[in-house]
Amino acid sequence: MRGVVLAGGSGSRLLPLTKVTNKHLLPVWNKPMIYYPLETLRGMGITEILIVTGGDSSGDFLKLLGNGNEFGIKLYYAYQEGEGGIADALKLAEGFVDDSKYDSKFIVMLGDNIIRGSLLSFASNFKCQPSGAKILLKEVNDPSRFGVANITNGIITDIIEKPKDPISPYAVTGIYGYDRSVFDFIKTLKPSERGELEITDVNRYYMQQGKLTYEIWEDFWSDAGTFESLALASKYIKELYNG
Ligand code: G1P
Repeated sequence: MRGVVLAGGSGSRLLPLTKVTNKHLLPVWNKPMIYYPLETLRGMGITEILIVTGGDSSGDFLKLLGNGNEFGIKLYYAYQEGEGGIADALKLAEGFVDDSKYDSKFIVMLGDNIIRGSLLSFASNFKCQPSGAKILLKEVNDPSRFGVANITNGIITDIIEKPKDPISPYAVTGIYGYDRSVFDFIKTLKPSERGELEITDVNRYYMQQGKLTYEIWEDFWSDAGTFESLALASKYIKELYNG
């Protein structure tokens, strides 16, 4: 399978850190944030990866990562105009996915998601799934910051983006497996109240089709898009390496 890292957005929750650079280039302990999702995808056996970025610092991704040789991967780049949201950024991966000689299913990872451990079995379980989508959930203390999935009898029955009163402790992490029908669905999507094409609406579409599977992640996972979570991720990685 091929992989896609979404690394656009304005990073407004991290201002002024993101005033002159892209959020995904900021340090998480001793490495730029974008290294972590790339390493996670590589650990899933994915070596052809599209980075979707945007804004004024997009050229810095090329300077930092080049063609991916140094990391043992092959990198491709796409440029998102404006701030249309995660599903809008994903649209730009259509040609890249259709071009794959391996599989039209693919893995998407948000560029600010930091995870410890291997997602190899997540990827191979998704590969065996005939069609549809797969998401990774994590039990958290502050679900209202995330998309939240309600599970009844082992099936996802609802997903709500940043609910005021969360219906469960299960956050939808930024790690998704999709088949290529995602692109046809995104073309029909309408912007949410905050003016973005929401990835939660994409996942709800698969849920309504009965084609959304999930796994619950027991090891460390965090996003790094707020001061709190960026500090937590850095602290965690530091302790992991330095004991
Ligand atoms: C996004 C998604 C949300 C998901 C989160 C994971 O939120 O919209 O559903 O739980 O990523 O990191 P954002 O960080 O863009 O607010």
